[in-house]
Amino acid sequence: MVSKKDGTTSPNRAQWTGDNTIDLDITRDGNIFRLKLALMLGLALVVNAFVSGRFGWTLSSFIDTSEDVFGTTGNGAIAKKDDASLISELWNTSLVHDETLPWDPSVYRKWIAYENGHGEKPPAMLVLTNLGWNQKNQTLGKQIPRHIRNKEFMIGIINHPWFHPTFWEELEEGQRTIPPNDTTRYYVFFDRPTYYDSHYPVYGGYNDNLDLADGRPKERREEWPSPRDFTRTLFRDAPGRVRLIQFNGGGWGINSYERLNGSKADWPISYIPLSDLISRVNATWDQGLVAPADKEAHLSPHQQEEIATCEAETKRKFFVTYVGNGRSGRNSKFHQVFGGARGSYFSFHDNQTVFVGPPDSKQIQESALKGLAYETILMETVFGLAPRGDNKFSYRFAEVMAAGAIPVAHADDWLWPFRPELVDWNECAVIMPEKDAGNVTLQILKEMSLEERCQRRKRCYKIYKDYMERPEGLIRGVVEGLELVATTGVKPFVGIKCSDYNYSFECNMQR
Ligand SMILES: *[C@@H]1O[C@H](CO)[C@@H](O)[C@H](O)[C@H]1NC(C)=O
Ligand SMILES: *[C@@H]1O[C@H](CO)[C@@H](O)[C@H](O)[C@H]1NC(C)=O
Ligand SMILES: *[C@@H]1O[C@H](CO)[C@@H](O)[C@H](O)[C@H]1NC(C)=O
Ligand SMILES: *[C@@H]1O[C@H](CO)[C@@H](O)[C@H](O)[C@H]1NC(C)=O
Ligand SMILES: *[C@@H]1O[C@H](CO)[C@@H](O)[C@H](O)[C@H]1NC(C)=O
Ligand SMILES: *[C@@H]1O[C@H](CO)[C@@H](O)[C@H](O)[C@H]1NC(C)=O
Ligand SMILES: *[C@@H]1O[C@H](CO)[C@@H](O)[C@H](O)[C@H]1NC(C)=O
Ligand SMILES: *[C@@H]1O[C@H](CO)[C@@H](O)[C@H](O)[C@H]1NC(C)=O
Repeated sequence: MVSKKDGTTSPNRAQWTGDNTIDLDITRDGNIFRLKLALMLGLALVVNAFVSGRFGWTLSSFIDTSEDVFGTTGNGAIAKKDDASLISELWNTSLVHDETLPWDPSVYRKWIAYENGHGEKPPAMLVLTNLGWNQKNQTLGKQIPRHIRNKEFMIGIINHPWFHPTFWEELEEGQRTIPPNDTTRYYVFFDRPTYYDSHYPVYGGYNDNLDLADGRPKERREEWPSPRDFTRTLFRDAPGRVRLIQFNGGGWGINSYERLNGSKADWPISYIPLSDLISRVNATWDQGLVAPADKEAHLSPHQQEEIATCEAETKRKFFVTYVGNGRSGRNSKFHQVFGGARGSYFSFHDNQTVFVGPPDSKQIQESALKGLAYETILMETVFGLAPRGDNKFSYRFAEVMAAGAIPVAHADDWLWPFRPELVDWNECAVIMPEKDAGNVTLQILKEMSLEERCQRRKRCYKIYKDYMERPEGLIRGVVEGLELVATTGVKPFVGIKCSDYNYSFECNMQR
């Protein structure tokens, strides 16, 4: 039995209002919000969830709980009817030291329930280290810089149904031990700055993208876990079942190459970079990270319905769009032969079906796109081009997905987001070599049947809703992928693999 830190138990704040709903008061940012939980198929879903700023929780109509192998939507709360009262009763307040992270009291926390005699033991646990932001001394914790996106990851972690807020520390302090017959898999998240992103939420914002809200220093910092971190109790006592999750936001991956070789190659890490190459990472444990949408479209229920019914295939006005610059990396030799992944499209602008060009260009300004917001254009787009830019990844990719368009990607050897056991991107995106940007790809798009388009669009939008729209979903996707590796085995990465080419120059390894 694990008790609350202050030794108290909370009164049950959930009020049953009938067979089908309960009302629940929760506190966030000092305000009381009223949640209504509706029971469907024996499961409770947050229906009237509140939306409050960037970190608000909303229910996605697109989340299909019946396909959810882990029994959670990751989208607020979901619980078996019998255990619903636990949602607020047990640990309604945060038990992590990092007091700057909003704790979602509506999440049904399965470890907490299990240790209080309710429900099944989850197969895996998420823990957060207490070495940096989450250390006991918050004066010190708040002196460590952090990026806004990295804070979002932390929020996704502490609000995962399998997160255990005190396990790591209790183990370190000898208040717990790992039983010899334990089978739990442990995912350790590192509470120090391993991720820096210059372009989110403000593209080109640099210092604007630092988390300065709680007086943290204005400093860009990226750290690696040290050898000492892997001598901690959990790594020692649960060998083979524990992984440290290492995010990396560098446009060029990790510059030291130390994930691949040297002393760090065998550390139990799952390395999750925004922009690294398939050929450089570990095929079993690593996975790509998805860049968030800076300009995020929000589809209306009607627009979502049009995706579900395939009406979007005939209603969307623009067949192919790309409004942006022509920078496709510093790979001039490759460009001289094949052209750039972006620039190769520019000559195919036809002002009727294909709209491609820089935002201020004559061809865009004198087209039907004139005056439309970037998000509006994408919401009316069938295929949204998302070719690699300076780096292999692109923020546009998530923007296209948010708008319900089908992304067309050119990024040779890029490590695609999420484990391939979880997301087969070939079901959604049109993935083509960089050398085929332009005419070759446009022909394929024109020949694709409406039915195939509809299937792809539905799959894409579901992936977006499940794993990309919110940081909670992203963390859930990261963990679900690793759980599939552990339980069902390893699949090969998707994407354009340079190793598949007999002539390496046809595949662009230049990051
Ligand atoms: C959480 O529990 C504490 C008692 O431990 C109680 O005072 C508080 O009102 C509860 N908050 C909510 C939102 O239920
Ligand atoms: C926390 O850290 C601050 C800054 O170093 C220090 O002044 C303070 O004494 C520490 N507090 C505790 C309880 O150790
Ligand atoms: C593990 O072993 C302990 C002690 O031998 C036992 O009480 C417990 O039920 C076992 N747990 C499992 C899951 O087998
Ligand atoms: C790791 O590989 C890179 C190039 O792939 C090389 O430059 C570096 O020296 C290697 N490091 C070690 C420790 O072997
Ligand atoms: C991945 O890393 C593990 C160590 O964590 C190592 O045993 C394995 O050989 C690596 N696999 C590949 C394909 O690099
Ligand atoms: C492009 O199409 C628009 C109508 O959508 C038209 O007004 C404009 O003249 C066309 N531009 C050119 C260069 O043909
Ligand atoms: C584009 O490809 C089609 C089909 O292969 C071909 O007929 C056409 O000439 C090509 N256009 C250009 C501009 O290369
Ligand atoms: C690559 O292999 C294919 C099939 O074996 C062959 O047709 C092609 O000419 C080869 N390309 C190069 C550049 O060697």
